[in-house]
Amino acid sequence: MSSAKVPFLDLKAHHDPIRQEVMAAMNAVIDENAFAGGKYVTKFEEEYAKFCDTKFCVGVANGTDAIWLALLAKGIGRGDEVITVPMTFMATAEAITYAGAKPVFVDINEQTYTMDVTQIEAAITPRTKAIIPVHLFGQCADMDPILAIAKKHNLVVIEDGAQSQGTLYKGRKAGSMGDAGATSYYPGKNLGAWGEAGGITTQDAELRERMVMFREHGQKKKYYHDVVGWNGRMDGIQAAVLSVKLKYLAKANDGRRRAAARYNQLLAGVAGLILPVEAAYSRHIYHIYAVRVSNRDNLMKLLGDRGIGTGIHYPVCVHLQNAYADLGHKKGSFPVSEACADTFLSLPMFPEITDAQIEQVVAELKACLALK
Ligand SMILES: Cc1ncc(COP(=O)(O)O)c(C=O)c1O
Repeated sequence: MSSAKVPFLDLKAHHDPIRQEVMAAMNAVIDENAFAGGKYVTKFEEEYAKFCDTKFCVGVANGTDAIWLALLAKGIGRGDEVITVPMTFMATAEAITYAGAKPVFVDINEQTYTMDVTQIEAAITPRTKAIIPVHLFGQCADMDPILAIAKKHNLVVIEDGAQSQGTLYKGRKAGSMGDAGATSYYPGKNLGAWGEAGGITTQDAELRERMVMFREHGQKKKYYHDVVGWNGRMDGIQAAVLSVKLKYLAKANDGRRRAAARYNQLLAGVAGLILPVEAAYSRHIYHIYAVRVSNRDNLMKLLGDRGIGTGIHYPVCVHLQNAYADLGHKKGSFPVSEACADTFLSLPMFPEITDAQIEQVVAELKACLALK
């Protein structure tokens, strides 16, 4: 067994084979001074919309802006409530707060780690305007019941697809089912830029137009501002990088699925571990491969000492963050999310991870479980 370290994420392995192609694309942007918005952003928007089976994509500065601008463009703001989950990255709730609305949480399903659809209706009040399901770790939330509830109560649905580029729900692409699908192209995402970037997909031409307006300081015509907007533009270099990387995304997602299948095979039946579940409706793309284990922090340290990189997504639920103390939630408010926060451990996962690396992770994990 090799004693080489296994990193949590190896972006270099992902980028080395395409480095020259990406550099050439970046050079074209430099040659044409197409830095802020511009033709390479338009090109990537068209390509990504096609990839998601949507009519439009609006390129923006990052995934947090993507959620926020979608909310603004749907007119959601002060006095409104938006339902989401507490087991997500802080950005989902932050975007709601920055739109002026209040995040209202429902717990997650214990199998899929996405929104527990049986809890949504009880959280709806006369102020509720939208639902933001999070396609956590690369698996879609159970969208059909969410869409049915939204229709019944006249609510907007914004998919948080920051971790799910290329995920399928009953054959439909993440980002194509709600009113809008917000995504992040943060470098470590399945489709990652070489810097910060985000995107919003939609089938709705009017919504697209409003999102573009909000992204451009609220102007449709230069220097004529119809609403107070923001500078939320994607930069041209990131768009050019993303256009190249998008060509390899399906293959990369397949690589993650192969790695997850191998982990599942080698870890099946290991006492004390709960493995991720791929829902029958889903094609999971394993942005994160998280197991659940008690005494997680100790295990993480033992693995780190043996050169195995791991992560925790996420150690503190959003409703228990200091920043949201004013919402008045206590430990115990969302027990499934909280139990997951205490026990999730994300194992090394990237498209190029080799079978030998996976075997090494599993061997060290088993050895550390025996020690712990
Ligand atoms: C679930 C989720 N939502 C939103 C975001 C925000 O994206 P960004 O970091 O690009 O602002 C992220 C990524 O970090 C995320 O994982």
